[in-house]
Formats: sequence, structure tokens, C-alpha cells
Amino acid sequence: MSQYWNEVYRTRGVDERSWSEPVPTISLELLDVLGVTPDDSLIDVGAGESQLVNHLLARNFTDLTILDISSSALDVARESARSENLITVQADVTTWRPTRRYDLWHDRAVLHFMSAPDAQRYATTLSRALAPGGAVVIGVFAPDGPESCSGLPVTRYSAHDLAELLGEEFDVIAQRQSRHRTPWDSEQSFQWVAARRAS
Ligand SMILES: C[S@@+](CC[C@H](N)C(=O)[O-])C[C@H]1O[C@@H](n2cnc3c(N)ncnc32)[C@H](O)[C@@H]1O
Repeated sequence: MSQYWNEVYRTRGVDERSWSEPVPTISLELLDVLGVTPDDSLIDVGAGESQLVNHLLARNFTDLTILDISSSALDVARESARSENLITVQADVTTWRPTRRYDLWHDRAVLHFMSAPDAQRYATTLSRALAPGGAVVIGVFAPDGPESCSGLPVTRYSAHDLAELLGEEFDVIAQRQSRHRTPWDSEQSFQWVAARRAS
């Protein structure tokens, strides 16, 4: 899978990837809703070449980590950020063993590549990586969203499905439905949740 995604990043420019977005508007809005501040640590899983961490660096965040299965994407992200406040981790989120905890877990367009049992493994990693009282922002294809992405089948999630995956330990603070416009002007339906874990 790592080779697959490296190939996707090597062969498709930023305007040829459906998920590209210059400004991660909903992610930033939900971080604000959760009251996340620059003192908080954040991990963006399956970050790829997302601009989110660059926006957070501009907001003076100092403890940012991006994790991705693709080393090619991480190389580009590292080069783009050029910051000692950004750590990169090349790993599969379903098998990764975190060695520390984070205040915020962010995922845009990664969990939908997983169905059970990988989705359950994803939830286990999330649980291990998130600090008590920490929060999550997850945005994935909604039930009326695409059925595949980058040549891979996807699992579409409702807000209820996401809350169920997170489990009773989490309170859902906000939900959003959005229609992402791809670089070629088609629309993709996304479901977002922002949730906080009990302390
Ligand atoms: C659709 S892209 C989304 C990228 C980014 N989150 C964004 O919003 O621009 C999916 C990303 O997930 C990564 N990915 C896919 N499966 C993964 C896994 N099992 N573990 C970690 N990263 C994964 C891919 O390499 C790719 O960067």
C-alpha cells in the first residue's frame, strides 16, 4: 500500500488529485469550535501534502506531527513546511504504535479507505495516541459521497457511524456536512465530526 500511494503522489500533480484543497476551511473551523490553541499538540494522520500544518505553523503551533503511509508525500510536506516544529512519521495508521500522546487527532479523507477490521485497528491507534481530554476532527466521504477514490474502494460514513466508531468515551461537539469541489469542479459529499474524549 505504501508503494501504491507513492505512485499516486509521483504520477499525479496537485491538480490531478480529487482531494486537493488550498485552504482546509472546515478543518480550521472545527479546530476553532473545539477551542484548540497553539499550545496544543496535533497529529494529522494520512496528511499527505495537505496544507493544514502550514496554516497551523502560520498560527504559531509548535508541536505538529504528520503521519502518512507515503514517504513521497511526506518528503514534499517536509520541504514545503521547512519547520523544526513539524515531525513526520511514515507508517500505516492501522498498525502504528504511538510513543506519545496528542491533544488533537485530525483526519481528512483517510478513514474512508478502511472498513472493519481495519477501521477498528484505526480506532485502536487513535485511542492510544489521544491524550485524556483530547479531541478529534474526522472528515470522510458521507453516505452520498463517492464510492471510490484513487482507484480504491471506500467505506462511506454517516455522523452516527463515526460516533459509533469512536465509542462512548467521546462526546460529539459538532458535525458538518460539506461538498468538496475537486480541482476539476466536481463535487464530493463529506461528513465531519469534531468530538472530545472524556478526561
Ligand atoms: C485522499 S488522501 C488525503 C490527504 C490529506 N489528508 C488531505 O486532506 O489532503 C489519503 C491519504 O492517506 C494516506 N493513507 C492511505 N492509507 C493510509 C494508511 N493506512 N495509513 C496512513 N496513511 C494512509 C495516503 O498516502 C494519502 O496521503
